[in-house]
Amino acid sequence: MEYYSEKVMDHFSNPRNVGEIDDADGIGEIGNPICGDMMVFYIKVKNDRIENVKFKTFGCGAAIAVSSVVSEMAIGKTLNEAMELNNDDVAKELDGLPKNKMHCSNLGTNALHRAIENYIMKKKSE
Ligand code: FES
Repeated sequence: MEYYSEKVMDHFSNPRNVGEIDDADGIGEIGNPICGDMMVFYIKVKNDRIENVKFKTFGCGAAIAVSSVVSEMAIGKTLNEAMELNNDDVAKELDGLPKNKMHCSNLGTNALHRAIENYIMKKKSE
């Protein structure tokens, strides 16, 4: 696939859940040193379930679409379910990504996973 699907274009032009959560339970940040793109995910957790997700992405169109769709996919999932989300799930949900943009889909799930790990770490140290 060498072009962007309609879903990618939709999430890129109209990204969901953009922003920050001031009292986030977990924050996950990740960057790709090669392209220089960066993403931060904020999560709110209740009873081991992700209640809310916001993100800020400084990156390419695919990275923005990926963050948007990952945020939608994560809301309502248990922490375990969200940890299982991978870049293939994300690409599928977006009806595919061009081959040279697959690395962008890694950023989204990695940022989410880091936010969850951050939450778990914070909880342990309480
Ligand atoms: Fe780097 Fe898309 S080009 S995340």
